[in-house]
Amino acid sequence: MSQPAGQQLPVSYAEWESRARSVLAKGPFDYIDGGAGYEDTIRVNREAFRSWRLQPQVLRNVSKRDARVTLFGKTYPAPVMLAPISIQGIAHPLGELASARAAAALGVPFILSTVSSRPLEEVAAVMGNAPRWFQLFWPNDPDVTASLLRRAEAAGYSAIVLTVDLPVYGWRERDIRNGYNPFQVGEGIANFVTDPAFRAKLRKPPEQDWQAAISLFGSIFFHPSLSWADLPFLRLHTKLPILIKGILNMQDAELALRYGADGIVVSNHGGRQVDGEVASLDVLPDVLDIVRGRIPVLMDSGIRNGPDVIKAISLGASAILFGRPYIYGLAVAGETGVGRVIQNLFTDLDLTMANCGIRSIAEMNRTFLIRR
Ligand code: FNR
Repeated sequence: MSQPAGQQLPVSYAEWESRARSVLAKGPFDYIDGGAGYEDTIRVNREAFRSWRLQPQVLRNVSKRDARVTLFGKTYPAPVMLAPISIQGIAHPLGELASARAAAALGVPFILSTVSSRPLEEVAAVMGNAPRWFQLFWPNDPDVTASLLRRAEAAGYSAIVLTVDLPVYGWRERDIRNGYNPFQVGEGIANFVTDPAFRAKLRKPPEQDWQAAISLFGSIFFHPSLSWADLPFLRLHTKLPILIKGILNMQDAELALRYGADGIVVSNHGGRQVDGEVASLDVLPDVLDIVRGRIPVLMDSGIRNGPDVIKAISLGASAILFGRPYIYGLAVAGETGVGRVIQNLFTDLDLTMANCGIRSIAEMNRTFLIRR
């Protein structure tokens, strides 16, 4: 390619990860890379993908391939979105601005985390009309929650992804060992300090008393008392589709349907919350059996390459969320790195589709898979 020798960007996930490890300090790298406890859940996420093997079909005229999908009335280049990842400022000075620009250039939906390093309006401003969703950690304050929803809608985010698998923090041993808690120093509170409802609760503006802002954030961020009965509040405060992210249990899939979710994201948060958890890919088929096509079911946790995307979609997922890989791209080369990681995924997906005899997303199904 056109880069000078020695400056080449990585190709494989392992290379991106190791380059990111070399450019980031240990605290931020471990925060991104790590998970709960022994990180067994991170490992089973990968084992689950390995346990399904692709079984190509040949001589099917694969000269034309099309990976586009339509979700909630909008068409995207592939069934791939950038997962909500917190505090991207720890990976690169431009943080979410760089990731969002890379996503926008390729038409890939960017899902902005509630706890971003940049306010949601600033991120929207660099994206033009490109697709974006807003991930909600539901704060323990109805005014702030309603205000965040209003702002997301006004800034052109077209869906709300409500994350429900973080009532409290996971037991993350690397962060504990490193003494790393970026939130304690106010990283990730950009959407709060710019929020009128949040500011109204402070005696002095955050610019004058940053400590008070951090402490108010700390007191409303976690919301362990949330329950299904609270969901109508969200419906009342947004007209956007609401997806529930962090479903791993069939009963919860039933409840999500009963409470009117517009979509489900089967996810174990990339193994960051509960060690010893089931792999999301392993429960995907059961969740799909319950949902029976009534709403889109997306999935994440462990997707690393094109074949992984084909496996998840062939099992019935409507789309996948891609997490750590693009953050390593961001750490290594900013917007260019994120762009390269996504382009590599897309090219790998396209070539692997052809080599499996698959011409479109609609053609992906279980006949291309066998469980080892
Ligand atoms: C996350 N994830 C996450 N999820 C969410 O809903 N809101 C968030 O703010 C974050 N923050 C976050 C930070 C970091 C560093 C990581 C690695 C993950 C979870 C994320 O959206 C997604 O579920 C997983 O990353 C998917 O797993 P993979 O692709 O990383 O294996």
